[in-house]
Amino acid sequence: MKISCDDDSEKTPMASPELNLINNAKLEGLSHPVQVIAVTGGKGGVGKTSVSVNLATAMAAADKRVVLLDGDLGLANADVFLGLSPRYTLAHVLSGERTLDEVVIPAPQGFLVVPAASGAADLANLGEMESLGLVQAFSTLAARVDVMIVDTAAGISHSVLQFSQASQHVVVVICDEPASLTDAYALVKVLSRNHGVSRFRVLANQVRVQGAGAELFRRFELVTARFLDVVLEFAGEIPEDEYLRRSVREQRTVCDAYPSSPAARAFKKLAARADTWPVPAGPRGNLEFFVERLVRKQTPRLEAVQ
Ligand SMILES: Nc1ncnc2c1ncn2[C@@H]1O[C@H](COP(=O)(O)OP(=O)(O)OP(=O)(O)O)[C@@H](O)[C@H]1O
Ligand SMILES: [Mg+2]
Repeated sequence: MKISCDDDSEKTPMASPELNLINNAKLEGLSHPVQVIAVTGGKGGVGKTSVSVNLATAMAAADKRVVLLDGDLGLANADVFLGLSPRYTLAHVLSGERTLDEVVIPAPQGFLVVPAASGAADLANLGEMESLGLVQAFSTLAARVDVMIVDTAAGISHSVLQFSQASQHVVVVICDEPASLTDAYALVKVLSRNHGVSRFRVLANQVRVQGAGAELFRRFELVTARFLDVVLEFAGEIPEDEYLRRSVREQRTVCDAYPSSPAARAFKKLAARADTWPVPAGPRGNLEFFVERLVRKQTPRLEAVQ
């Protein structure tokens, strides 16, 4: 397995003063690599939040230090799934009212949660001092985490695209419904054509028959291979499981509440697989770099190639 990082220096048009500030800030406090995984999918209700909170739980149970960044402002967002009532969000950090440490809350499942702000749309319009503040805030968090999971909203909004292109790994959640496949296709198309993302990890959710996830993946891959220049990798399948629904109603994660259920076991496997996904070496693997890409307007994206 080799990790190759595109050198984007040639593709970056001109470093703005704002980016120089950020780059200098990065040099002062280099932190260790953090694996950043965006969970997305296009269609609403395919299971993005379920996957995010359970992957976070399973990775935390495997002794990873995990932070879940809630990138969705919708009603059924991560804090509801986890039974949390956050007082502050990332918006308070951006406005300078709170520090990131004051905003981050611990979930009982053993990981940290950064509650949603008003999406990355705002992040793309930050001034240079705000950008710098955000990079520094995340660099203090970086010292305490190994993995950041970003739960994104439904659709192909600006915030979904920004979070996805800023992450090292994009997990596209699909299920066996025509609307899921067409929405996921549209998302992959926009991310690949306009945002430089060419590698996707596809997770089949709500799978009714064991093995049907791989079949669904092949169907999806057939269409993308015909029309798009992307590499898709099958990330596995999560069975449809009544225990998962029950855990949502109980505001717990299925991995925590019903660890031997089929869904929980599948999430454990996913967590083990995710642990093998490459983390870019050097500064590019740092959390500050994620924020940099998030706040940058036009972002050439590094690709991890296996
Ligand atoms: N593997 C599964 N087995 C059974 N039910 C599931 C599974 N995955 C998701 N669900 C059900 O689907 C519902 C919607 O899931 P979830 O909220 O995770 O989707 P989402 O993609 O995050 O939705 P949104 O786009 O609204 O954010 C859950 O409340 C749960 O009841
Ligand atoms: Mg959701």
